[in-house]
Amino acid sequence: MLTQAIRPLVFNGDRLTMIDQTRLPQELIYLDLRTVEEVWEAIRSLRVRGAPAIGLAASFGYALAAAVAPVTDSLEGFVAHMQGVREYLETSRPTAVNLFWAMARMDRVLREETRRLMAAQMPDARSPTSPTSPTSPASAQAMTQQAIVERLRAEAVLIQSEDERSCRAIGENLLTLMTDGMGVLTHCNTGTLATSQYGTALAGFYLAHERGWAIRVFADETRPVLQGARLTAWELQQAGIDVTLICDNMAATVMAQGNVQAVVVGADRIAANGDTANKIGTHGLAVLARHFGVPFYVAAPVSTMDPATATGADIHIEERAAKEVTHVAGERIAPEGVSVYNPAFDVTPHELITAIVTERGICRPDFAMAIGNLTR
Ligand code: MRU
Repeated sequence: MLTQAIRPLVFNGDRLTMIDQTRLPQELIYLDLRTVEEVWEAIRSLRVRGAPAIGLAASFGYALAAAVAPVTDSLEGFVAHMQGVREYLETSRPTAVNLFWAMARMDRVLREETRRLMAAQMPDARSPTSPTSPTSPASAQAMTQQAIVERLRAEAVLIQSEDERSCRAIGENLLTLMTDGMGVLTHCNTGTLATSQYGTALAGFYLAHERGWAIRVFADETRPVLQGARLTAWELQQAGIDVTLICDNMAATVMAQGNVQAVVVGADRIAANGDTANKIGTHGLAVLARHFGVPFYVAAPVSTMDPATATGADIHIEERAAKEVTHVAGERIAPEGVSVYNPAFDVTPHELITAIVTERGICRPDFAMAIGNLTR
């Protein structure tokens, strides 16, 4: 199967069909989600994960909620209801900024469209509405709300198609840093499953493969949730790319053996100074890459940059359930009652990053200036 055949998220207006990533690679199961609560649960429990994919799923969840919002006396009531939906979706996962970025964008469209339609509804003093007008105020209100719902659906679909184009452009930019025959190391899953198509870091590998380049990808298994073993190894294998799975503690060995010419990872939030939050274990890889003189690249869309967050110290790092660490595939592997620390992400200081590859170009130090230019 080609990666292009994998469609992690498909929106049909009244339902969101998504791959249940918790079941991969054993089973390729699609879920039909019809309510915002189901979408929230899917994000929280990692059925859909990866920064851009979380933002996309939340946008579709927002559109699903808009379609069933009560029709109140005024559009202000609808806007207030959707504010609650936004805040609810934003509680699903805290670290990936793409979720908050997508919610802010949907909210902006909601308010602009509402303002536009309210202005269009304002009674014109020169032509007062006829008392025998066939449209009752209640049904006119419902029709206006429906028009806004259609606009929100269209915006969510637009976010998805923009993401697809961005990923392809990130891949093209990554290719300029890659060479035929090289070995690359990646962490977590930053592929098609984590986006709408192609991925971020993996986009470079897919495009290299399309060109017929021989690249060898080392995929960290990525404890504790094993996104590398379950998802990255699966999707690269489906695409026919040479992928070698390693445990996280083997990265130093493959680098010391000279098998890795670049480390390429994704990002969940990039602070204004370039500090980058990504899956736990990324920081350690950056330290190793510096030690072995291997370039360390972060690949992410501009929507993952958060100019409002000054440094990595200001990024909220999600902590997840102890069971992710004490159990493997449902089996307990640690003693009952042991203390567990389970941060889902870490922050790589910008000093350890060689370049940040986006759809709009490649940022190199000074990152603060480069990020400022891209996000202004
Ligand atoms: O907890 P996850 O699986 O959502 O974490 C995902 C990652 O850290 C990815 O590497 C990151 O979101 C980049 S996805 C293109």
